[in-house]
Amino acid sequence: MNIILLGPPGAGKGTQAGMLVEKRGMVQLSTGDMLRAARTSGTAMGKRVADVMDRGELVTDEIVIGLIDEALDGAAASGGVIFDGFPRTLAQADALDELLSGKGLSLDAVIELRVDDEALVERITGRYSCGACGAAYHERSKPTKVEGVCDACGSSELNRRADDNEESLRQRLMEYYKKTSPLVGYYHAKGKLRSVDGLALMGDVEAAIAAALEG
Ligand code: AP5
Ligand code: MG
Repeated sequence: MNIILLGPPGAGKGTQAGMLVEKRGMVQLSTGDMLRAARTSGTAMGKRVADVMDRGELVTDEIVIGLIDEALDGAAASGGVIFDGFPRTLAQADALDELLSGKGLSLDAVIELRVDDEALVERITGRYSCGACGAAYHERSKPTKVEGVCDACGSSELNRRADDNEESLRQRLMEYYKKTSPLVGYYHAKGKLRSVDGLALMGDVEAAIAAALEG
């Protein structure tokens, strides 16, 4: 099963993708994670996109389509692919259609995580993660058990994302409403859209997604 998780910054795409990976053996393809990895490893592309990402703007369609094209080959053999944060423009959605059909794959469902902007500010400004193993936390809804120490691997390298500040978040939201939200109508018209309440408790969102994938 191949699915897209669609929603604004902080909607819970990464959180829910992680749960699907754990429970269903699916593979998560997050263009945000891929771009951050390119920055950390210091590739020319990583350097080119750094400022754009920190300002909260979208990087070019060409770059992210290339990343997905490359990653899909390895992921296709798994129990299914979760596209997290891709596509984000209509051009990316068309490219994904082509990529999938070129590889003999198809898209089963698009899960829209519905949230409101106020909750997003609180989620994004409280978020941090482990620099060593990538485990994700939140100051209020999911803190580490011992302050400053990762539950999963014991590292004390806990970081915040450079774009998790109010100014970049405002820009990320603007980009979402202008360029990404038209995908809701696009996938609705294709009969693929399933909307769930992203403001519910994490486990309830997980259950709603499971029900949507069965229906
Ligand atoms: P990306 O990394 O995709 O960021 P984003 O879309 O802004 O989304 P986030 O990762 O911030 O949020 P999320 O929905 O994953 O939420 P999470 O689960 O972490 O992209 C970053 C940048 O890369 C972009 O701005 C752009 O520059 C570039 N980029 C990436 N893809 C691109 C593309 N396709 N085209 C062009 N540019 C691209 O949850 C957030 C917090 O809330 C966490 O702390 C979590 O613990 C908490 N939380 C989650 N669910 C719940 C819940 N149910 N209840 C309470 N708390 C919750
Ligand atoms: Mg994410």
